[in-house]
Amino acid sequence: MIFLNGEWMPVEDAKISVLDRGFIFGDGVYEYVPVIDGKPYRLDGHLIRLDNSCKEIGLKNPYSNARWTELVLEAARRNGPGDQGVYWQITRGVAKRDHSFPKDVEPTVFMMSNPLPKLTAEQVDNGVPCYTFPDKRWHRCHIKSISLLGNVLAKQHATEHGGAEVVMIRDGFMTEASASNVFCVFGDTIVSPPKDNHILGGITLDGVFDLAKKNGLKLEVRPVPEAEMWAADELWLSSSSKGVLAITTLDDKPIGNAAHKGKPGPMFKKMFALMQADMRGA
Ligand SMILES: Cc1ncc(COP(=O)(O)O)c(C=O)c1O
Repeated sequence: MIFLNGEWMPVEDAKISVLDRGFIFGDGVYEYVPVIDGKPYRLDGHLIRLDNSCKEIGLKNPYSNARWTELVLEAARRNGPGDQGVYWQITRGVAKRDHSFPKDVEPTVFMMSNPLPKLTAEQVDNGVPCYTFPDKRWHRCHIKSISLLGNVLAKQHATEHGGAEVVMIRDGFMTEASASNVFCVFGDTIVSPPKDNHILGGITLDGVFDLAKKNGLKLEVRPVPEAEMWAADELWLSSSSKGVLAITTLDDKPIGNAAHKGKPGPMFKKMFALMQADMRGA
C-alpha cells in the first residue's frame, strides 16, 4: 500500500495529474529511511534534512515531525514484515505550467515502502567495483531534490561498466557517488569531504561520524584532491540502503595497500561491524 495525499491505496490505484510540478519540473524534495526490525534508523536526521530541503526550495513542509513519524511507521508496517526502505516525496503540487511558484496550491505527498535491499556476502567480503565520473551537477547538491538527472546519468555510467557506483570528481576534488557518500581511509584515519553544497549530507555519513567519535577512531573532514583519493588505503560508500560498503576497484584498478589490495581493509571491517550493530540497535 502506498500513501498519496492523505490516503492509503494499492499502488495501481494511485493517480497523479500530468500537471503535477514533480512530473513537469522535478519540483520537489524527497527522503528515504531504512526501517530495521520495525525501527526507523536515525529518523530525526532524515526529518531535519527534509525540513531543510523544503526551506531551500521555498516549499512549506506539509506535516509535523510527529505526523511524518506515524506515516513512516505505518508505511513500513503495512508493507512488512521484514526490514523496509521508506521513500517519500513532496512536490509543489498541481498547477498550470509556469516556472514561477503557483499560489495557493496544495503540495503532493507520496510515500511508499519496499523491502530494504540486502547486501550480499560477496559484496561485504569483496567490496564493489566503482568508476570515476565528472561531477557536472548543479551547485545545490545538499538539497535532496527529486530532480536527479545528473545522478541518473552518473549511475548509468557505473551500470554500463558493470560497477556498483560512481565516484564523482568536481574541479579536481572527490565529491560523492550517485546515491551514496564516499569516504577515504589513510592509515587509520577516516577522511570525508565536507558537508557543503557539493554533496548531499548523508544521514549514514552522520552515523559514520558519530560511530568514529564514540569509538575513538580518527576522523578528518576536509576536501580530498583526486590525486590523494587514488592513493587511499581504503575507499567506502555509505547510504541508507547500503550502510557502509567497501570500494575495492576504481576504474578497474585495485584500491588499497599491499596488505589488502583490491580487498576491504581493516578500517572498513571495523566500521561495518559498528554500523551493523548501530542499525540493528545492538
Ligand atoms: C547523492 C546522494 N549522496 C549521498 C546519499 C546518502 O545519503 P543517506 O546516507 O542519507 O542515505 C544519497 C542517498 O540517497 C544520495 O542520493
